[in-house]
Amino acid sequence: MDTGFASIKSDAQPWWFHGVAYQIYVRSFADANGDGIGDIDGIISRLDYLQDLGIDAIWLNPCYPSPQVDHGYDVADYLNIDAEYGDLDTFDRLIAAANERHIRVLMDIVPNHCSNQHRWFLDAVSAGPGSAEREWFWFRDGLGEDGSEPPNNWRAWFGGPAWTRVVEPNGQPGQWYLHLFTPEQPDLNWNHEPVAAAFDDILRFWWDRGVAGFRIDAPVVVGKTPGLPDAPPVPDGTLDTDIASQNPHIYHRPEVHELFRRWRTTADSYEVANPGRSLVFIGETFAPSIDLVASYVRPDELHSTFNFSLLLNNWEAHRWFESLLAASKLPEVRFTWTLNNHDAQRNVSRYGHADAALPSSYTGNNLVNSLLPVNVAVGTRRARAMAWLLAFLPGPIFLYAGEELGLPEVLDLPDSALQDPIFFRTDGRERGRDGCRVPLPWTSDPLTNYGFSLNTKPAQPWMPQPEIFAELAADFQHEDPTSVLNSYKTALQLRKQLPDAPMSVALVGDVLTIKRGNMVCITNFGVTAVSVSGVGTPVGSSSDSNEQLGVRMSCETTEWFLAG
Ligand code: BGC
Repeated sequence: MDTGFASIKSDAQPWWFHGVAYQIYVRSFADANGDGIGDIDGIISRLDYLQDLGIDAIWLNPCYPSPQVDHGYDVADYLNIDAEYGDLDTFDRLIAAANERHIRVLMDIVPNHCSNQHRWFLDAVSAGPGSAEREWFWFRDGLGEDGSEPPNNWRAWFGGPAWTRVVEPNGQPGQWYLHLFTPEQPDLNWNHEPVAAAFDDILRFWWDRGVAGFRIDAPVVVGKTPGLPDAPPVPDGTLDTDIASQNPHIYHRPEVHELFRRWRTTADSYEVANPGRSLVFIGETFAPSIDLVASYVRPDELHSTFNFSLLLNNWEAHRWFESLLAASKLPEVRFTWTLNNHDAQRNVSRYGHADAALPSSYTGNNLVNSLLPVNVAVGTRRARAMAWLLAFLPGPIFLYAGEELGLPEVLDLPDSALQDPIFFRTDGRERGRDGCRVPLPWTSDPLTNYGFSLNTKPAQPWMPQPEIFAELAADFQHEDPTSVLNSYKTALQLRKQLPDAPMSVALVGDVLTIKRGNMVCITNFGVTAVSVSGVGTPVGSSSDSNEQLGVRMSCETTEWFLAG
C-alpha cells in the first residue's frame, strides 16, 4: 500500500522499537492433535496467518512443564516444554518456521515463583528446616506456641493467606513458606545467589535455541522487606485481588533493579558473544506511577516495559489523553503498549459495558463487572477505534490473540467450566480470567471446535466456545473487507510507514489528537460526528464505511491523516 508518506526509520534500530508482537495463550490458539488443547504444532500451522496479519514477533505464554494450576505460571521445569504442547523438537521447529517468516519468538519467564512440583521445592521440603535447599524459598517458623499461626498477615494475590505450612520429613507440621499467588506457586528467594545463577543458565538455554527475548512475569514483587513485617490493615470489603496489591512490603524493592541489571548484563554479553543476535526484555511492571514504571527502562536494565495505563482505561477520552500525555513527556522511554492480555477482560466487552466509565480492576472480571450488560456492537466499534490509536503509538505494541477478530469476553461460562484459581480461591467472589482465554475460532464449523482443532474428530475444547464465535471466525472475516480482521491488517500495514517521531497529544472536548512528525491520528470519543476538513490527506480509518473520509468523522472512530 503506497500512502504517499515515507518512513524514516533507521535500520540501526532494533525491531522492537516499532515492532508488533502477538501474544499467544498456547492452550487456546490452535490444536493440531485434536485433544482440545492448543499446542505448538497448532501455532506452526497458523504462522502464515500471522505473517499476513503483519506482526514481527510472537510472545508465548508459559509453555514449560507445569501442573497447570495457574496455566503455566507454575513452572515445574524451566528447561523443557510441557508434553501437552509438544517437546523441545517441536519448539525448535516453531523457531525455524517463524524465523523463515521473519517472526521472532519471545517467551515468558517467571522469576518470582515456580511450581511446588519443581525439583527445587521438592528438595527444599524434604531437606528440612535449616537446610541450604530451604534457602531457595521463603521458609519461616510459624507464630504461636506450636507455630500454627502464619509468620505474618500477608495475603495472596489470588485470595487467602500468602503462607502455607508444610509437613516436615518427620511427619510433623512444620515451617511455613511464602506464596504471593497460589500455594502451588512458592516464591523464590532472590537474595540467594544460586537462584539468580540458575536463571542465568535458563535464559542462555532458550537464547541458544533462538528465542529473541522474554516478557518477564511479575518481576516487581521479587524483593521482600527484610524481617517480613505485617502489612497495614486494608478497608473492609477490599477485593481479594486488591489486598496483596496494597502490601507495601512486596513491591518495587531494590531487588527488582538488581534482577534487571543482572539479566541485562547477561543479555548484553550474550549478544557480544553471538554477533547478529538482538535480544529484548519487556517487563510486566505494574506500578502506581509512570515515573516508577519508567525507572526500570535504562541502558543497563530493561529494554522496554509495559505501560498498562491503556489496558486499564475505559471509554473516557480524558483517561486516554492523560495516559498518553504522561508518556509523551518521557520520549526517551520506549513503552510497550497493549489493550488486552490474558489477565484482563477483553476490550470489546470492557468498552461495551452499559456503564463504560466504571473503573475496572486489573482483571476487570470481578463479579460486578462480569454481570454488567454488554453492547457488543458498541464495544466493537470502540475497540476498532482503539486499535487504530494503538497502532499509531511509538514503541512496541502487543496484540492479544483474538483481539484482531474483535472477540468479546465470554461472560457466561458456567461455573463448572471455570479453571482460574482466582475463582476458587475467592470462593467465587471473583470470576477470574477464563473468559478471555477461550479457544479461538478459525472457521465457522462447530464440529472442529470452530477450526481451533485441526483434527476432524477432536475432543471438546478445554474451555467451551460460545456460538457467536461462528460469525467471528478468522476465515469468515478474511473474506469481508470491512471486518475487524481486515481493519487490523490495514492499520498494521500503515504503521510500518509511520515516521520515527515522538508523539504529542491534545484533547478538545471528546476529540483526541496525536501527532507524530507529519502524521496525525484523531480519535472522536464522542457520540456525534465531528468535522475534520483541513486536517490533511486522510490515510485510513477504523470505520468500516469510508464514505466521508477526511471530511466528517463519525462517532467513536479513529482516523489517520498526512498533515497538509
Ligand atoms: C501473569 C498471570 C499469572 C501471575 C502469576 C501475572 O502477572 O500475567 O497470568 O497468574 O503473574 O504468575
